[in-house]
Amino acid sequence: MTCNTLEGKTVVLGITGGIAAYKAADMVSRLKKLGACVHVIMTRNAVRFITPLTLQTLSQNRVVVDMFEQPHYWEIDHISLAQKADLMVIAPASANIIGKIANGIADDMLSTTVMATKAHVIIAPAMNTNMYHNPFFQQNLNKLKESGFTVVEPGEGRLACGDCGKGRLQDINVIIDTILNFFKTRQDYKGTNALVTAGPTREPIDPVRFITNHSSGKMGYAIAEAFAQRGARVKLITGPTHLDPPQGAEVIRIQRAREMLDRVMEHFPWADVVVKAAAVSDYRPREEMVHKLKKHHQRLEIPLVKNPDILMELGRIKGDKKLIGFAAETDNVKEYARRKLLEKNIDMIVANNVTAKDAGFYSDTNKVSIIFANGKELDLPNMPKRKLAHIILDEIKTL
Ligand SMILES: Cc1cc2nc3c(=O)[nH]c(=O)nc-3n(C[C@H](O)[C@H](O)[C@H](O)COP(=O)(O)O)c2cc1C
Repeated sequence: MTCNTLEGKTVVLGITGGIAAYKAADMVSRLKKLGACVHVIMTRNAVRFITPLTLQTLSQNRVVVDMFEQPHYWEIDHISLAQKADLMVIAPASANIIGKIANGIADDMLSTTVMATKAHVIIAPAMNTNMYHNPFFQQNLNKLKESGFTVVEPGEGRLACGDCGKGRLQDINVIIDTILNFFKTRQDYKGTNALVTAGPTREPIDPVRFITNHSSGKMGYAIAEAFAQRGARVKLITGPTHLDPPQGAEVIRIQRAREMLDRVMEHFPWADVVVKAAAVSDYRPREEMVHKLKKHHQRLEIPLVKNPDILMELGRIKGDKKLIGFAAETDNVKEYARRKLLEKNIDMIVANNVTAKDAGFYSDTNKVSIIFANGKELDLPNMPKRKLAHIILDEIKTL
């Protein structure tokens, strides 16, 4: 089965200097519509055929051409794009770039990024038919095929130069299908019941005020979405967020921590795996005022009481269910997380420093360490939450 979405996937698209470069605009637009994050690298010669501005506008990302341009945010582009890529696609791929890759040449941004990436590479050659049949070119192309690159063979017909034969960039539909096939979603959670919690809770002070926290719900929603994509039945118990409900998940909305506890307990017997990504308020006001506190109110202290520790409750009764917690900390992150893991009988805990740059609340990216009950620890680099969600699911599989 082919998945029909590229949500959460980063595709780095290389464009080289051939007449078919104009078709790359359509390709970027199609990839974006499928939900991919697209980064474009153009060769200097590609820029003669289509402007970076067009591709920048369509991809909504800065187009990289020059390797020695000042990097943005002190990321070194060829390394950061090489690492970010879930997949690299070169379309159209000139005879020149294929020759360079096959012979280990890295003399511009595109060839250097290909050399630096561990991501899979799909190549869609396009050129004059005589160039295509040239024995040196064929040797180079075969080298790539033997090294595991996917080659989308060119089509046959009348070429832009007037010649007839093989060499025309393959239909964009075929290239897109090849990309979708590569990301064919594993259905490795088919038959699994996954219960996920997300977002903040709201602990009312009075009818207009409440105590809450900065949780956006993005991480929990990404996990619920990943479970659904991989075939699980998913129930998402969520505090108030501004996010669209994840495709394929049953969404149960709550406000207070105690409602979260009730709903979690209600659905816990159904679940095979429970991921508690919600940021549940540890405290609530002792009293919930029936009427709004007035400005002239004499008592300005709000006494707090502790909320139930849902993870602790679940740890006591978990049996053979898999229980995964999150530890959002601001200091001694791993140490607190390890302690929480042991105290609460959790199988795996995802620890993050919520004050770190480009991580934690609100951010679309996160940088976490995953700590396991057996002592194993995994420090992951900063990455999109949707990508991280899939890695967390991969790790849950190993429990
Ligand atoms: C009008 C024009 C069209 C070209 N079309 C192609 C092409 O379709 N495929 C190809 O391999 N080279 C083509 N070339 C030649 C390449 O641009 C040339 O080999 C260049 O060095 C490729 O550089 P790059 O791989 O760094 O982009 C074309 C050149 C011109 C002037």
